[in-house]
Amino acid sequence: MPQDPTKKPLIDLLSGHRQATPPLWMMRQAGRYLPEYRELRAKAGGFLDLCFTPEFATEITLQPIRRFNFDAAIIFSDILVIPYALGRSVRFEAGEGPRLDPLATPGEIATLATQANFDQLEPVFEALRRVRRELAPEIALIGFCGAPWTVATYMVAGQGTPDQAPARMLAYRHPDAFARIIDVLVENSIHYLVGQLKAGADCLQIFDTWAGVLPPREFARWSIEPTKRIVAGVRKQVPGARIIGFPRGAAGMLPAYVEQTGVDAVSIDWAAEPSMIRERVQSRVPVQGNLDPLALIAGGATLDRAVDDVLENFGAGPLIFNLGHGILQETPIAHVEQMVARVRAYKG
Ligand code: CP3
Repeated sequence: MPQDPTKKPLIDLLSGHRQATPPLWMMRQAGRYLPEYRELRAKAGGFLDLCFTPEFATEITLQPIRRFNFDAAIIFSDILVIPYALGRSVRFEAGEGPRLDPLATPGEIATLATQANFDQLEPVFEALRRVRRELAPEIALIGFCGAPWTVATYMVAGQGTPDQAPARMLAYRHPDAFARIIDVLVENSIHYLVGQLKAGADCLQIFDTWAGVLPPREFARWSIEPTKRIVAGVRKQVPGARIIGFPRGAAGMLPAYVEQTGVDAVSIDWAAEPSMIRERVQSRVPVQGNLDPLALIAGGATLDRAVDDVLENFGAGPLIFNLGHGILQETPIAHVEQMVARVRAYKG
């Protein structure tokens, strides 16, 4: 919970005060592009050991802050810790991404646990408490979860898929069974996010990475509705909780997402059309984004121009400078430094 919101630029912005220099952080800012992360990763047993060992998770959360002094730290964890705590098998195999036991039929879905074992997530809460203690007061600490739709795409398919076809198909063929997965995720995500706020998170982000594959009717049902329930459920227990939504690829559905979910800010990907965003989204809530992660890899004058485009497109309104999606492993650290210096030099 915010201790002194006025001192944190990100929280101040989420409370409706535009900052001359936009608060800055990067999605996936802790991770494999950092040599110090790779070193710790090699020492630990596996990715989930990093998430569930508070010493490791605390250290990794702070690594990008030490290097770049971002305005926010995001707790090091993963969206798939919820299926894990629901008793699903979740494995991260090197170079392959996540693997889960698929949940593909109504019969299998009927066996899904209703309540996660939150004792298993206690290390995440402990890491949040430790990070908050070590973090400078002006730096915001972000807690997060995956949106039910995106988490369900992994639970149904058992892995990442190019177009989320297994979950989309299941939702068409067996909407009631699919709704059970979503309902279980809504209730447990509320509990998990409230726990993160109580452990020291200053605000929250809901990652709906695969929202963009849904047709409008399905988007309303599987992305907007569950997110709205999470936002309301969290605020019922923590009034005034600040929440950023990230429905990646939502494009023309963004205005409806903002109006209906009640999020305090929305993260936009790099393809979002600037004038529509300014008129129909940023006029209501702050936006976060939206540098193309590939421009960050390209560097040089291309990167400068891409940074300037974000600032010109959205800097006149309330903006959290970020990438349009997570930073990629191949990104040179010098390019991140170049981006940080350019954003910090902006006093719009
Ligand atoms: O942003 C941060 O720095 C905080 C940590 C964080 C991770 N994952 C760590 C991670 C966050 C916020 C996530 C979110 C996440 N996880 C999403 C939503 C946002 C997005 O990036 O799309 C999704 C879809 C996942 C699921 C997931 N976890 C995938 C598909 C993968 C494999 C692909 C990949 O990037 O490696 C992971 C593993 C993962 N999560 C890693 C990290 C640092 C890499 C693990 C490793 O070291 O091998």
